[in-house]
Amino acid sequence: MPMKRPLKPLGKKPVFTVHELDFNDPRVVGQAAEVLFKAYEKKPDFSAVPANWSPNAALERINLHWLNAVNLQQGKAFVAKDNTGKIVGAAIGHLDKIGGGNTIYWLGGVAVHPSFQRRGVSTLLTQARLGAARELGCKTIMTKVHKKNTARLGQFKKEGFARFQTVDENFYLFRKELESP
Ligand SMILES: CC(C)(COP(=O)(O)OP(=O)(O)OC[C@H]1O[C@@H](n2cnc3c(N)ncnc32)[C@H](O)[C@@H]1OP(=O)(O)O)[C@@H](O)C(=O)NCCC(=O)NCCS
Repeated sequence: MPMKRPLKPLGKKPVFTVHELDFNDPRVVGQAAEVLFKAYEKKPDFSAVPANWSPNAALERINLHWLNAVNLQQGKAFVAKDNTGKIVGAAIGHLDKIGGGNTIYWLGGVAVHPSFQRRGVSTLLTQARLGAARELGCKTIMTKVHKKNTARLGQFKKEGFARFQTVDENFYLFRKELESP
């Protein structure tokens, strides 16, 4: 008798969860780097990645820049996983000083695997980073974005960030003040 295949639940949305990136786990770091590489692979012209962007460059960015931010600037790196445990997004946030002024919380790189974009993954990663800023008692959030990065610009609009400065002919600075808890 033929076996019946279980029916797929209709319209069930994948559930994503956010976790702190464990830099001591090479498998997790490797998967996060792969996501970073893929997310920026087709956009090196307007993202903050070098023209010779490669899987190794992505791995180095996490192992060097992100880990430095964690160790030296009270940063936290996060990964988003789907319901099978696969890493589909990664992001970093850390304390910083702008123009020698007050300490702010800087949203560094965020990357979502192209197959998982537009499902709220980056929004979750940003919420986690804003939570980290709150834990540090830092209410001013800042970040930089290329003027052609429509995805990120669209997201800022939705998340209540305001453009407040032009860095150069290509990049804008965005800011958001967190409300008191
Ligand atoms: C930018 C990026 C991180 C967004 O990730 P994401 O998980 O797809 O974003 P979300 O699903 O959380 O999107 C939230 C909102 O942002 C806006 N947005 C996201 N992608 C967009 C796009 N391609 N065009 C226009 N608006 C977009 C929308 O308002 C969206 O809400 P909606 O889907 O309900 O309309 C992702 O596109 C990416 O990895 N890009 C390449 C790397 C990069 O540019 N990183 C940022 C450098 S500053």
